[in-house]
Amino acid sequence: MVKHVVCRFDELDVGKITPGKIGRSEVIVSKLPSGEVRVVGGRCPHQGAALEHGRISGRTSSDTPNEMEFCNYGETLRCPWHGFEFSLIDGCPVVPGAKNWPMNLRIFDAKVEGNDVVVTL
Ligand code: FES
Repeated sequence: MVKHVVCRFDELDVGKITPGKIGRSEVIVSKLPSGEVRVVGGRCPHQGAALEHGRISGRTSSDTPNEMEFCNYGETLRCPWHGFEFSLIDGCPVVPGAKNWPMNLRIFDAKVEGNDVVVTL
């Protein structure tokens, strides 16, 4: 098992994408509203766009016609190429019914040690 320091914890913020590396592989890092740190593979599972150029936001939800609510700010990653959106909570596409698509973000187990964000592989 090898520890990789991906970035500094104080570089992170909710809604901000921080690029990092695990060895020679690009990853992106963000802080979730819960305070948890998310380290994600740097390429989109659709056609490989560099996710560091994407955007983190929220999504809209509605149970009632003509009413819409903005929710989950900081938990949704939008790809810069075709606009597919993925949950930073579980890596799945956020389109309803898409849970079984073979297209999830790769999420790495990350820990914060002092001011370092660390992934052990
Ligand atoms: S490459 Fe990301 S949505 Fe197509």
